[in-house]
Amino acid sequence: MKTAVCPGSFDPITTGHLDIITRAAGLFDRVIVLISVNAAKKTSFTLEERADLARKAVAHLPNVEVDFFSGLLVDYVEKQSADAIVRGLRAMSDFEYEFQMALANKKLNPRAETVFLSTAAENMYVSSSLVRQIASFGGSISGLVPECIEDAIRTRFAQE
Ligand code: PNS
Repeated sequence: MKTAVCPGSFDPITTGHLDIITRAAGLFDRVIVLISVNAAKKTSFTLEERADLARKAVAHLPNVEVDFFSGLLVDYVEKQSADAIVRGLRAMSDFEYEFQMALANKKLNPRAETVFLSTAAENMYVSSSLVRQIASFGGSISGLVPECIEDAIRTRFAQE
């Protein structure tokens, strides 16, 4: 049984994330979408809210579960005896940051292997920050986030 952890801020989960998760679910027996804390980011949604949105988005994928964790990623990976960390790569600009994280995680735990999946071309420009920016100005986020969570995100930003 091969387990992968897909960590990220997921603030909120986007169609780009969902594409990577769906493809990881085809490669691994079990995939855990891990809503994690990125100390460099201030988020709009709480860990629990982000996990709820992600749970709705992956409900149709039987081998995918969602969890949240506020500690070190490698500790979670160890606790789950996971085989890989899966991250999506959009462009070369992502590479330096991703490579640094993969190396740091490997230094912290030599068992932590990171697997990169390239984003689908149509999602190259999609990001959580883009979604937040558009939603905060009342613009359409259709196609940028999974359809089943569009209303929840729109409503949340309308309240601010
Ligand atoms: O979606 P993001 O913000 O690019 O994801 C980054 C994330 C959350 C995966 C990373 O910040 C992380 O792993 N946070 C957990 C704490 C940790 O282990 N930090 C050291 C990573 S080298």
